[in-house]
Amino acid sequence: MNPLLPTRRQFLESLGALGAAAWLGSRLSSWAAGAELPAAEERLAIDGGPPVRKQQLSTGPYGPQFYDEEEKRELIEVIDSRNPFRHPGGKIAQFEREYAKHLGVRYAIGVTSGTTALYAAMAALEIGPGDEVICPAWNWYADYDAIVLCGALPVFAEIDESFGIDPDELERQITPRTKAVIVAHLQGGICDMDRIMQIAAKHKIRVLEDFAQCVGGKYKGKYVGTMGDIGINSFQLSKTITSGEGGAVVTNDPLLYERAFRFHDVGQVGRCFNESIGNGVLQAFASCNFRMSELTAAVLRAQLRKLETICQAVRSNFRKVREGLADLPGIKFRKTGDLDGDLGQVVFIDLGNRKRRDQFLRALRAEGISAVGPGGSVILPADTRIEQKRTIHPDWPSFRSPRGQQIQYGAASCPRTIDILNRFGGPAIGPKYTDTDVADIIKAVRKVYLALHKA
Ligand SMILES: Cc1ncc(COP(=O)(O)O)c(C=O)c1O
Repeated sequence: MNPLLPTRRQFLESLGALGAAAWLGSRLSSWAAGAELPAAEERLAIDGGPPVRKQQLSTGPYGPQFYDEEEKRELIEVIDSRNPFRHPGGKIAQFEREYAKHLGVRYAIGVTSGTTALYAAMAALEIGPGDEVICPAWNWYADYDAIVLCGALPVFAEIDESFGIDPDELERQITPRTKAVIVAHLQGGICDMDRIMQIAAKHKIRVLEDFAQCVGGKYKGKYVGTMGDIGINSFQLSKTITSGEGGAVVTNDPLLYERAFRFHDVGQVGRCFNESIGNGVLQAFASCNFRMSELTAAVLRAQLRKLETICQAVRSNFRKVREGLADLPGIKFRKTGDLDGDLGQVVFIDLGNRKRRDQFLRALRAEGISAVGPGGSVILPADTRIEQKRTIHPDWPSFRSPRGQQIQYGAASCPRTIDILNRFGGPAIGPKYTDTDVADIIKAVRKVYLALHKA
């Protein structure tokens, strides 16, 4: 049952003219039944009226829209050097310094992907068999896999209407075995970091911030990824800035940095590769090779210089659209930990339930507007391989303990997460949208939203 509906019903009834049962009802079906047709210009495109836009408006991945001579120049320098492997003073070392400075953290490590950044961060936090790690039920596979592949047990917590972890749910899932929580800022949204950090401090658990889907997002003036013990992000194609593949680990803690650095480079921390902590203080341990290529770092250096331009452009368009819709009756936007710091990739609106949300999105697309539901993540406990706790070896430590055997995943374990994800949808926002594009989005959303209300 949707806890929002009574409120909406009360609201609609309070307007007098609109019956609660009509909330987002289908005009199509009423017209098909012979009701009087509205004027052509008011008619929704999905019902045969003229669309707001004749040419579909859409935005691709942000980073490549800003590729230009800068990325080419950086890449050519690596090609001309004939030295694409990590080396002192090379592009990776420069990028790490610049990225750390930009985010306001002491250390950054360039790695091959967001997934390998997660593995390095789990190693830094010394997470292993017997440990529990709390993860939001809506998140990317890599976060779950990183927990399982280091032998620990994933424990899911429901999300709230920011699509991020619900702090109350986080606290409810903590046990004496909980070592860390993964806090993921998803689809450009911002989690409630003050509450999360308070809970983590109270229960003495570590915070791993995953800002793969929110590079450049801010919470109360600080970049997301920099408030927890350690942060990770991805530079894969769909992220704010991109080199196709790539990732980073960021932290202020020299020990976490050294462990993550060693883990990403076969246990070493030699001067040849690392200019930040010399030979370090730890001994080598079994590790991996997640080293970034100089070619990747070349593109990322150029992209980093454009990060703020991209974020500001998306945010500005996001704000204009939100402001243009703010007076719509009963409108409720996605929650955010910080409206000013939110990346604003999509203006998510609560449509009450899945059927109404899907109707709304179909009608918006027919008007020529790119419209989406929550995406880029998975309802992890409901995924078959996760529900069945499948691993490559039957004795995998994650699920061998009594607690690992007893814990139950599946859709029934995260009803609130599923309900929230079913209700929200809205227009996607691009950094290169013109004022006309923004005006068209506002016009189309108002048209569809009001038409569906009036039906
Ligand atoms: C939240 C989140 N974390 C981690 C990752 C993993 O990043 P990568 O694809 O670079 O391995 C992704 C990738 O989409 C992601 O969305």
